[in-house]
Amino acid sequence: MKKRISINVCMGTGGMAAGGKEVLDRFAEEFNKEGISAKFQDSPYIHKVGCRGFCARDVLVDIVIDGNKTTYEHVTPDHVPQIVSEHIVGGVVVAALSVKEDYHAFKDKQVKVVLSDCGELDPEDIDAYIKSAGYQSIKRVLDGMTPDDVIGIIKDSGLRGRGGAGFPTGLKWEYGRREKSPVKYLICNADEGDPGAFMDRSVVEGNPHLLIEGMAIGAYAIGAEHGYVYIRAEYPLAVDRLRLALNQSRERGYLGKNILNSGFNFDIKVKLGAGAFVCGEETALIASIEGKRGMPKAKPPFPAQKGLFGKPTIINNVETLANVPYIIRNGAEWFASMGTEKSKGTKVFALTGKVKNTGLIEVPMGITLREIIYDIGGGIEKDKKFKAVQTGGPSGGCLTEDLLDISVDYESLGQAGSIMGSGGMVVLDEDNCMVNMARYFLEFTQNESCGKCTPCRVGTKRLLEILDRITEGRGKTNDMELLEDLSRDIIAASLCGLGQTAPNPVLSTLKRFRGEYEAHIVEKRCPAGVCKALITYTINADKCTGCTACARVCPVTAITGEKKKPHRIDQALCVKCNSCFEACKFNSIKKI
Ligand SMILES: Cc1cc2nc3c(=O)[nH]c(=O)nc-3n(C[C@H](O)[C@H](O)[C@H](O)COP(=O)(O)O)c2cc1C
Ligand code: SF4
Ligand code: SF4
Ligand code: SF4
Repeated sequence: MKKRISINVCMGTGGMAAGGKEVLDRFAEEFNKEGISAKFQDSPYIHKVGCRGFCARDVLVDIVIDGNKTTYEHVTPDHVPQIVSEHIVGGVVVAALSVKEDYHAFKDKQVKVVLSDCGELDPEDIDAYIKSAGYQSIKRVLDGMTPDDVIGIIKDSGLRGRGGAGFPTGLKWEYGRREKSPVKYLICNADEGDPGAFMDRSVVEGNPHLLIEGMAIGAYAIGAEHGYVYIRAEYPLAVDRLRLALNQSRERGYLGKNILNSGFNFDIKVKLGAGAFVCGEETALIASIEGKRGMPKAKPPFPAQKGLFGKPTIINNVETLANVPYIIRNGAEWFASMGTEKSKGTKVFALTGKVKNTGLIEVPMGITLREIIYDIGGGIEKDKKFKAVQTGGPSGGCLTEDLLDISVDYESLGQAGSIMGSGGMVVLDEDNCMVNMARYFLEFTQNESCGKCTPCRVGTKRLLEILDRITEGRGKTNDMELLEDLSRDIIAASLCGLGQTAPNPVLSTLKRFRGEYEAHIVEKRCPAGVCKALITYTINADKCTGCTACARVCPVTAITGEKKKPHRIDQALCVKCNSCFEACKFNSIKKI
C-alpha cells in the first residue's frame, strides 16, 4: 500500500548553522537515487521548517508517515541513507537517532500558540500557511467586521503587549483608531535588543505570514494604510524570509491596494536597524525610521497621537501581533481561557543559562518558574544547586529559590521584584557570582545608553565603576549604599525606559544577595569563585596524585611537579584561567 510522507527539516538560524540545508539536500538525493518516491502516494514532501526551540539538538528532522510523526536529533547528511532505508522504506524507526525522553519532557509541557506552526510549515511557502488556515482571519475581518468589532475582540481576549511593558493591545488600538488623520502607521517592533533573546527572530524566520496577517488586522483596526517592520540587520535569514513572504502576500492580494476586494489598502515596508538596544524604545525607533539618530524623546505626545513623520502611530511587538490571527480565528474566549486573571494567553521565553534543556519555549501564563526550570528545562546542569533566575533581561531582576513557585505572569513577577520583559530567562547556579552578574547586565546597558540625558549617561557609568571595583577587590564600605542611592536617582531622573530600568539587576541582587556583596567588599572574597582578582588557585598536596593533567593544560606553565608527586602552582605566573580546576579529576585544586 502506498504511504503519504512528509519530511520536515529544521532550518531556522540554529538548524542552518548545524547543517540543515545539507541534510535536506541529502534526503532529496536519496529519494531521487533509489526511486523510492514511487512507493508513496504523493511525491514526498521534503521541506524546511522554522525553529522548534531545542536548537541544542539540531539538526532536528521529523518523518511523518500517514500521520505518525517520529523526530530525529543531531541528524547529519551521513545519517540520512540509514533513516531512509530502515525507517521510511523498512518501517522500523532508527531508535539510536530518534529523540529521547528529555526531548518529550521539553516539548510536551509547552502550549504553543504563536509557535504552533513554527517547525511544522515551510516559512517560504505561502500555500503551506494558507493550508494551515492562514489568512482566514484577515478574510473574516474584511468580510464583515468593523474596526470596532476587531478592537472589541482583542480587548475581550485580554491580550497584552509582549514587548516588555504589557500594555493592553486592544486599548492601544482604540487610541490609534480614535485619532482623526488620513495617514496613520502601524509599526512592528522586531528590534529584539535584549542579550540572549531570539523569540521574535524565530517567529519571523519560522512563520513570517503570521506576522503579516497580524499586522494587516491591526492596521485595519486602527485605520492605517502604511506599515513598517523595524528589524535588526543582524537577522539576515529573518529579513530574507520576511521580504519573500511580503512579496508572496502582495501577489495573492493579502497586501496592497483593495485587499481581497474589500476596499482596504495596506502595505508593509522593511526597515533595517543597526542593532542598538535603545532603538527598541518607541520614540527612538520612530526617529530611526525617519532617518535620524535613534534617540528617545519625552512623552507626551505619545506615538499614538504624534508618531512617525508626525502622524498617529501604533507600535506592537512581533509576538503580540502574531497572537492576533489566532484570536480572530479561535475567539476571545478561547484566548482568555489560557493564563491568569490579568495575564492571558501564552508567553514565549528564551530559556538559557544553567538549565539542562536550553531553548525557546512557549508556556501558558500562570505556569510556575519551577515547572519551567525543572519540568521543561530538565533541572540544573550537572545537578548543581539552583541559585537564581533572572527574568526580563537587562531591565529585569533575579528571583531566588523561595520564589520558584510563583506564577509567571505580569503581576506576580512584578510583585516579586522582577518583570516579564520581552522573555529572556537566565538560570543561574551556585557557580554564578551575583555581583558579577549585575555587573554584566549593567555593562550592557551602560554601553547601550544613547547618552542624551545625564542621569543615564553618567549615572550608569558611575554604577559600573563601583561594581568594577567591588569585583576587583577594591570595594569600599559604603559602596552598597552608594549603589542604592545612585540607582534610585537614575530610575527617577532618566528620560526613557533604558535608564529607568538599567539599575534593576543591581537593586535586586543587592536585596537578595547582600551577603555576597559583603563578602566581596569586606572579606575581599568571591564566594562563587568567579571574580578573578579575588580567587587563588592552590593544590592540596594530600589529594594530588601527580597525574600531570593540570600542568598539561596550563597555558602559562605555572604548574610544576614530577609525575606521581604532588604538584604546585606558581602564583606569580597564574592568570586564573580555571583550566587546571576543570582538568583535575581528583578534586585536588582549591579555588578560594
Ligand atoms: C530600551 C528599550 C528597548 C526596547 N526594546 C524592545 C524590543 O526590542 N522589542 C519590542 O517589541 N519592544 C521593545 N521595547 C518596548 C517598546 O518600546 C514598546 O513598548 C513595544 O514595542 C510595544 O509593543 P507591545 O505593546 O506589543 O509590547 C523596548 C523598550 C525600551 C525602553
Ligand atoms: S535614559 Fe539613557 S538611553 Fe534613555 S534617553 Fe536617557 S541617555 Fe538615552
Ligand atoms: S588557573 Fe590557569 S593559569 Fe592558573 S595555574 Fe591553573 S591552568 Fe595555570
Ligand atoms: S590534575 Fe589534580 S591530581 Fe593531577 S597533578 Fe594536577 S592537581 Fe594533582
